[in-house]
Amino acid sequence: MSEAEPIDWPALEKAALEARERAYAPYSDYHVGAALLAMDGTIYRGANVENASYGLCLCAERSAIATAVVEGVTQFRAIVVATRGPRAAAPCGMCRQVLVEFSPSFPVRCITATGEVSLDTDVATLQPHAFGPSYLNDDDS
Ligand code: THU
Repeated sequence: MSEAEPIDWPALEKAALEARERAYAPYSDYHVGAALLAMDGTIYRGANVENASYGLCLCAERSAIATAVVEGVTQFRAIVVATRGPRAAAPCGMCRQVLVEFSPSFPVRCITATGEVSLDTDVATLQPHAFGPSYLNDDDS
């Protein structure tokens, strides 16, 4: 798959909804699934993974990113996030920053658990003036 090819949104949405089924969310009961599209067309899935020590909860978006990174993939074309209820939630602040790390702007689609599209946006809109890796190369002069 090249960047010129259109994004297969239905396939990404299906993958996000499937991933959501795998969420481990016994504490919040707020199940989230994510599907991250790599440049070569591979879809990496993620789900939220909660913990009895609540602060250790891992979001679906970061779970998908970690799954891709461990396969050597760090450039992405799109992500779909599936949450609960009639208002699909956009990624949390921590996940926005983690998305910026790998690709400063790519499309983000938020869908409900029944597959309705609730929000179409992109990483740069969600995280304006983001701190990114390039700042670490600035010197003091
Ligand atoms: N959650 C995500 O997976 N992604 C987000 O962007 C927001 C929140 C999860 C974390 C926790 O398991 C549950 O949703 C409730 O906050």
